[in-house]
Amino acid sequence: MIDLHTHILPPDWPDLKSRYGYGGFVQLEHHGPGCAKMHIDGKPFRTIESNCWDPGQRLRECDALGVRAQVLSTVPVMFSYWAQPADALDLSRLLNDHIAGVVREQPTRFAGLGTVPMQAPDLAIRELERCVRELGLAGIQIGTHVNGKNLDDPGVVEVLAAAERLGACVFVHPWDMLGKERMPKYWLPWLVGMPTETTLAITSLLFAGVFDRLPRLRIGFAHGGGSFPGTLGRIEHGYHARPDLCGQDCAKAPREYVRQFYVDSLVHEPDALRTLLRLFGPERIALGTDYPFPLGETRPGELINSMSDLDGPTRSQLLTGTALEFLGPAGEPIGRA
Ligand code: CO
Repeated sequence: MIDLHTHILPPDWPDLKSRYGYGGFVQLEHHGPGCAKMHIDGKPFRTIESNCWDPGQRLRECDALGVRAQVLSTVPVMFSYWAQPADALDLSRLLNDHIAGVVREQPTRFAGLGTVPMQAPDLAIRELERCVRELGLAGIQIGTHVNGKNLDDPGVVEVLAAAERLGACVFVHPWDMLGKERMPKYWLPWLVGMPTETTLAITSLLFAGVFDRLPRLRIGFAHGGGSFPGTLGRIEHGYHARPDLCGQDCAKAPREYVRQFYVDSLVHEPDALRTLLRLFGPERIALGTDYPFPLGETRPGELINSMSDLDGPTRSQLLTGTALEFLGPAGEPIGRA
């Protein structure tokens, strides 16, 4: 199995508040063996274990669970799109150098996606080029919006166009969820906000005609595309009912774009995955678990392997084939393993 959706952090990094002169950044505080707290300006964000930063521990768990390789990306709270561009670039470089180092140590077990300062497209493109050309990463992970700008924002599209030019893949991950002020309880930003964020990201790209302009871009969305698959009927109906509102910028109806992008398989129930298969086809769906976080699939491939209606070729496309196609040439070492 190849797991397209996993997160990693460095074991440590400098105090960013003193490095940049203002707060808001995540720091890691180790307390006891194999346990650390992520906090932002002293406020707890999340407790993590050594599998979040220790490649050796990750490989032991991969071996136990039958995962041949992981695709590493940072934790979205590290994006720092809100920060000063030069500082976000500095932090991106630090995180990307770390991921590239882990990949370099175990090139058949790990592939990597970088992070770039999307608030400054010029800097983002320069760092994207460095990720691909110098660090050997397969592409980048970006958020579902950039400080409230949707992904059809011209600056974002410039970065996506650069990714297409470079043959780099782009994995879109929800972060900084819309409506979070109405979601103080019940983990709602994660359960309701994230799928909605992803739907907004896909739909923004689609109606703005970005898929028309960038036909060769390899772009994928976390969590099975969020609530997009369940909302596509409404989006399609809206396009036909009010083309004056929905159709002025795109060349085709929404449904005609769905095989132009990728999603991961993290949907937690067979009928949801069947819907993805019907819409996108197996060649657009890649195993993704959100390792090492608890809202992910803790036994990688459990959902796919539980479905007796999937034939062997479909299963292997979902578990390995699509990830390798999405990653492109930078994925070859993990494909050979
Ligand atoms: Co994730």
